[in-house]
Amino acid sequence: MLGRTPLALISVNPDAKRHPLITMGRHGRAVEEFRSLRTTLQFVEVDNPPRVIVVTSPLAAEGKTTTACNLAIALAQSSLKVCLVEGDLRRPMASTVMGIDGSIGLSNVVAGQLDLADALLPWHRGLLTVLPAGTAPPDPTGLLGSNNMALEFIPIEPRISFEIDNIRFTPIPVNHEVPTIGLVVQAADATVVFTSDTSVTDDIWAAANQLPTLRAVFVDCSFPDELEDLAIRSGHLTPRLVVAETAKLSRPTQIICVHIKPDTRDKVLAQLAAHHAHHIAPVKIGKTYQFDGTPLVVAAAS
Ligand SMILES: Nc1ncnc2c1ncn2[C@@H]1O[C@H](COP(=O)(O)OP(=O)(O)OP(=O)(O)O)[C@@H](O)[C@H]1O
Ligand SMILES: [Mg+2]
Repeated sequence: MLGRTPLALISVNPDAKRHPLITMGRHGRAVEEFRSLRTTLQFVEVDNPPRVIVVTSPLAAEGKTTTACNLAIALAQSSLKVCLVEGDLRRPMASTVMGIDGSIGLSNVVAGQLDLADALLPWHRGLLTVLPAGTAPPDPTGLLGSNNMALEFIPIEPRISFEIDNIRFTPIPVNHEVPTIGLVVQAADATVVFTSDTSVTDDIWAAANQLPTLRAVFVDCSFPDELEDLAIRSGHLTPRLVVAETAKLSRPTQIICVHIKPDTRDKVLAQLAAHHAHHIAPVKIGKTYQFDGTPLVVAAAS
């Protein structure tokens, strides 16, 4: 989305649940994937290699903790000095994965109760250092946005645009069971829209109709047609609803269906195909979408 190409692909690994510390093994595809992520990161900017790497993702349970722990180990194995910092103050799992006590750490340091040096825990005979999440704070967001924190937490407001790396993002409220926004993402001469999780809605389609350089809309298509009732009640769409919703666009645009639930994926794909709408297609997971003549690149994850 930010004009970058993916650094590495980490495959689905059925063993990850039982043995999350993949990189403590010697060989195997998963070990090699983390080593290749490490190597790519070391070559991102050779003159000024990254010193702080943030591991994050849009949704829960997408592998952030597993990736952060394994990347930390892979980096430490190449003799780099590594500190793994657990920044998830709501549901910290890194210390559990690493097998250490996480009850004192980042939150206590940020709250001024403890010196950083006293909160750092050596791991695996000093291979690396871990800063666990610490005591669960009542207001993690407030703590994360406090002056002692290295990250700046900037809330976004519906309809107020913001820019990152010359790409302009405009949040537009959509219709989901909890307050949710879709995003209009504008580069110099191409725009894409992400509806995010939504059911039948109007504002984001109206916003899309105001965009002369619109190239594609990534739209929720969670459930098959026979679950339309559930889709509407849970704030999602089906193939039939996607066809009806995208008819609100005044010009034909490439429609890419995302968020298809894995257990009914085949049905959703068959129903999308049955509409013979050539501009509507399911997302290709792992594909990098590039919108011509522009640096706007989207790497599809789900
Ligand atoms: N490459 C993988 N293949 C298969 N399963 C994985 C992989 N990576 C992680 N998992 C499993 O997916 C689940 C979620 O992983 P993890 O806890 O790392 O995600 P997370 O993004 O940190 O989640 P949360 O949002 O709850 O913090 C775990 O059960 C984990 O074992
Ligand atoms: Mg996690």
